Amino acid sequence: MSVALSSKSGEFGDDSINLMAPAGRSKFGWIPQISGWCIGAAVCLGCLLLILILGVVAHNSSAIGHRDSMCENMIDSLTADRESLRAERDQLKDTSSNLTKEIEALQSQYKAVAASRDKLQEEVNTLNLTRARRECHQGWKAFGDKCYYFSTSGVTKSWALSRKDCLERGADLAIVTTREELDFVSKTYAVTWIGLSDKDREGKWVWVDGTELQGDEFWQDGEPNNSDGDEDCAEVSRSAKRFNDVPCSRRFSWACEL
Ligand code: BGC
Ligand code: CA
Repeated sequence: MSVALSSKSGEFGDDSINLMAPAGRSKFGWIPQISGWCIGAAVCLGCLLLILILGVVAHNSSAIGHRDSMCENMIDSLTADRESLRAERDQLKDTSSNLTKEIEALQSQYKAVAASRDKLQEEVNTLNLTRARRECHQGWKAFGDKCYYFSTSGVTKSWALSRKDCLERGADLAIVTTREELDFVSKTYAVTWIGLSDKDREGKWVWVDGTELQGDEFWQDGEPNNSDGDEDCAEVSRSAKRFNDVPCSRRFSWACEL
């Protein structure tokens, strides 16, 4: 194949490629004419470029959309967390406020109870003073902070009837807890009933007020021995100045205390 360029017309022969615009088709005679396949290729390239651009744009849009969606989810989640924390904070504020009120109420109650306790303590002190200074009824004897009634000389009764007499006087048989009191109670009569017995349970010596006897130093040597087999009541004798267990049916003088 030969390429022939005509300086006049710019046309080639039959089997040649015409690179010049035919005379009369271009206002610039020197620009070569573009053949059909070149235009097709350019259009294809343009289309491909367009598709590529559209693809990139679509991909970016999708990525941005995805990212926006993630951000929205995150914002929603954070907003929900914030609301939940606010609610929790408000609840804690309420609880704290209630606790503060409770503490204040308890403090005020404590003050009232403490004041009441102090007042009662003062009353107890006053009563103890009054009791220590009080006069005993006629026929009664004062010793320490108590008053004692000793049965009439020559009158004797069983332990139970002696106690009954004390109770009728608004008192009870004497409860002896100190050496001084023991000396005082035992010196009036040869033998005197006191308010101590083990009638409810053998060997368990209990005072008439329900308290248990503490220690055994006030018993005579070898006592209590229950020697009679039924010695459930305690007496004190002037000679021994200590306790002995004897049958409750015995008749002795007695000492009441108030
Ligand atoms: C005993 C006492 C007993 C008393 C009874 C005395 O000889 O020593 O233990 O209680 O007799 O009367
Ligand atoms: Ca005895």
